Amino acid sequence: MAEELSGTLERTSFTHLGVTHTGKVRDSYVSGGVRTIVSSDRQSAFDRVLGTIPFKGQALNAIANFWFDATADIVPNHLLEVPDPNVIRARECELVTLEFVVRAYITGVTKTSLWFNYESGEREVAGNRLPEGLRKNQRLQQPILTPTTKLEEHDRNISRADAIGEGLITASLFDRVADLSFALFARGTEVASERGLILVDTKYEFGVLGGDVFLIDEVHTPDSSRYWYADTYESLFEDGKDQRALDKEPLREWFVERGFRGDGTPPALPDDVRVATAARYIALAEEITQRPFEATPDTAVDRVNSLLAG
Ligand SMILES: Nc1ncnc2c1ncn2[C@@H]1O[C@H](COP(=O)(O)OP(=O)(O)O)[C@@H](O)[C@H]1O
Ligand SMILES: [Mg+2]
Repeated sequence: MAEELSGTLERTSFTHLGVTHTGKVRDSYVSGGVRTIVSSDRQSAFDRVLGTIPFKGQALNAIANFWFDATADIVPNHLLEVPDPNVIRARECELVTLEFVVRAYITGVTKTSLWFNYESGEREVAGNRLPEGLRKNQRLQQPILTPTTKLEEHDRNISRADAIGEGLITASLFDRVADLSFALFARGTEVASERGLILVDTKYEFGVLGGDVFLIDEVHTPDSSRYWYADTYESLFEDGKDQRALDKEPLREWFVERGFRGDGTPPALPDDVRVATAARYIALAEEITQRPFEATPDTAVDRVNSLLAG
């Protein structure tokens, strides 16, 4: 762990691999219909990059790839191969420029999250009417879809009607991927529950290729989802306490406690917080994949460079 703290994969530049897109967390290189995606160890929260977490890219990639496999009967996905624990090769798709967020509980401290909006008086979120009297972390009657915009500087909740009205998507495509989102969420909920976990909420991205819809990006990872331990859910909820989370919510809370919600200069991440966050990512990877997490002899940065450098 000590070695990885200074051997994290922070940024890559393999321009010979194609057209480069540097996301908050992943670096993509697109050439000939293939997207090489490097999961870095960058940590994002509140739409900002806030430091690096050891082993994070590897854990993220393992979790996403498990779920691509576990949902392939519902919808085809972009995954082609996994040449390194931090890297995949994927089918390049035409982006559906909305993110499909499914939520089964009301929670969250970010500006697009349900609880944050509800607490500040909002009762209508992305076209969903929320009842009075909900408490933080309460389970909703049934999962709801709260799409957000993509390709804008900050995510914005948007209803089906507005997304269609603004020309972001057609009605038929919206309804198709909405159905897929609920089906994927049901599968995620079922598999997570076999592992003693609650899939609280998540975000899907879809692409279109040759007229078919593909699941792209990442699936049910701690960057795109919240997970809680099931066994302590009820008692913590009754006591009005925070849930035991296997995701990045504890890290978000750490920033919020220091007055940071995405604007201004973030406080620097101390190593103990980085290590605690790494431990959560690794625990979730082991829990979800049901395989021991294997650190390689080389650090992520050395491995990825020797695989991909030109
Ligand atoms: N198969 C794919 N085809 C096209 N774009 C994709 C595909 N898979 C992922 N992407 C895009 O690649 C980027 C992944 O990097 P990420 O760090 O998540 O970026 P962001 O900061 O935009 O969230 C996202 O913008 C995502 O929409
Ligand atoms: Mg992303």
